[in-house]
Amino acid sequence: MSIILDKVNFVYSEETAYQIQALKDVNLEIKDGQFIGIIGHTGSGKSTLIQHLNGLMKATSGTIYFHGQDIYEEDFDLRELRNRVGLVFQYPEHQLFRRSFITSRRLISREGRSAVWRSPECLP
Ligand SMILES: Nc1ncnc2c1ncn2[C@@H]1O[C@H](COP(=O)(O)OP(=O)(O)OP(=O)(O)O)[C@@H](O)[C@H]1O
Ligand SMILES: [Mg+2]
Repeated sequence: MSIILDKVNFVYSEETAYQIQALKDVNLEIKDGQFIGIIGHTGSGKSTLIQHLNGLMKATSGTIYFHGQDIYEEDFDLRELRNRVGLVFQYPEHQLFRRSFITSRRLISREGRSAVWRSPECLP
């Protein structure tokens, strides 16, 4: 399994006064089993790039291949791609757990007493 990006470009707000080219001719191959880190200064396009890897964002031009298949072809199964290429965003706890689980917080009961509220997921 590999993911290959071939001359991928992405432009936000294309053909408007706010147009920004976030990715420019990106060529990249991520081979099966490879662990890679992507580093760059703020606004260099890391998040934009990552969101292309499972088809969340579609390149303005260029091609992405998964298992050798062009993910932009009409019959490509994007759902299967998203099953295989998972993304974890910043603050992953908000993505992986219900808010109620994370914020087990003190609530004021109707009687005015404070109580520790726990969601059912917290219970053993
Ligand atoms: N939704 C958007 N609309 C317009 N421009 C955007 C949008 N998201 C990002 N950009 C612009 O695209 C460029 C790349 O942004 P991106 O968020 O991919 O960078 P980043 O490397 O992830 O930054 P950071 O390190 O701050 O997370 C920046 O110039 C940014 O301002
Ligand atoms: Mg980012």
